[in-house]
Amino acid sequence: MMTERPLAVTDFKKMKEQKTRITVLTAYDACFAYLLDESGIDMVLVGDSLANVFQGRNTTLPVTIEQMIYHGEIVARSVKRAFVAIDMPFMSFQVSPEDALRNAGRMVKETGCRAVKVEGGTDMIETIRHIVKAGIPVIGHVGMTPQSVNVFGGYGLRGKQNRSQVIEDAVAVEEAGAFAVVLEKIPKELAAEITGKLSIPTIGIGAGPECDGQVLVGADMLGLFSGMQPRFVRRYAELGDAVREAFRRYIDDVRSGAFPSDKESYSE
Ligand code: KIV
Repeated sequence: MMTERPLAVTDFKKMKEQKTRITVLTAYDACFAYLLDESGIDMVLVGDSLANVFQGRNTTLPVTIEQMIYHGEIVARSVKRAFVAIDMPFMSFQVSPEDALRNAGRMVKETGCRAVKVEGGTDMIETIRHIVKAGIPVIGHVGMTPQSVNVFGGYGLRGKQNRSQVIEDAVAVEEAGAFAVVLEKIPKELAAEITGKLSIPTIGIGAGPECDGQVLVGADMLGLFSGMQPRFVRRYAELGDAVREAFRRYIDDVRSGAFPSDKESYSE
C-alpha cells in the first residue's frame, strides 16, 4: 500500500477488502530494515527465523525473548513507514495466557514493534484473546509451525491429511481476535479456501498465490545462503555469490598491495 504515513493495523483489513496484496519480509538488523522500508514493503517481520539466519541454528527453538527484544528494538527504530511485527519465541507464550501476555507486553513495550506473532490455532484461542484484550495486536500462524518441529518430526507440508484441522485453526485464530494469519506450507487449494472464509488477511509462505499477502525470509529470497531451499522460495538475487566475490577481491587486493590506493589514503 503506497501511503506516506506509517502503516497501521487497520490498513491490512482494508487491503484485503480492496484486493491489494500485502507484502511482508523478515529483517533482524538496521541495514536490512532500512533497505526494506526504502523499497516500500508493507510489513517487516522480526521473525524467530533469526535463530536460523542470524544465529546459525538448525531450528527456531533456542532463540530467547531477550534476543528477540534486542533485534526487534533495532528493526522497529530503523523503520519509518512499514508496520513492524515480532515473533513470540518458543516457550514465551505456551505456558499460560498470563505468561504469554506478560511476554507480549515486554516485546511491544521494549521494542516499539506494533504486533506480535503467535504460532498455533485452536490451542492458542485463550492466549490470543488475552493478548488482544490488553491492546496488543496479534498475527496468528497456522499450518506448518516451525516451533512444533519436534512434534511433527520435520518441516513437511501440512494440511493434506489434517485439512479440516488447519481450517479450524485459522478460523479459531480469527475468532480469538488476530488481525492477520500466516499460512505456512499448506496446499494452495486449502490456502485459497481459508482466504475466502476469513475476513482477516492471510499471509502465505509456501501456501500458493491466493493468499491476501506473501511473506518470505529476507535472506532466503536474496540468495544469501547456498544449499537446500524449500521450493516455495524464489531467489530474487544471488547476494551470497556477490558477497563472496567482493570478499575475495578485497583479500586479493590487500595481499597484492592494490588496496588502499593513493586516493584511499590521507597525506600529511
Ligand atoms: O520466523 C519467521 O521468519 C516466520 C516467517 C517465515 C513467517 O515466522
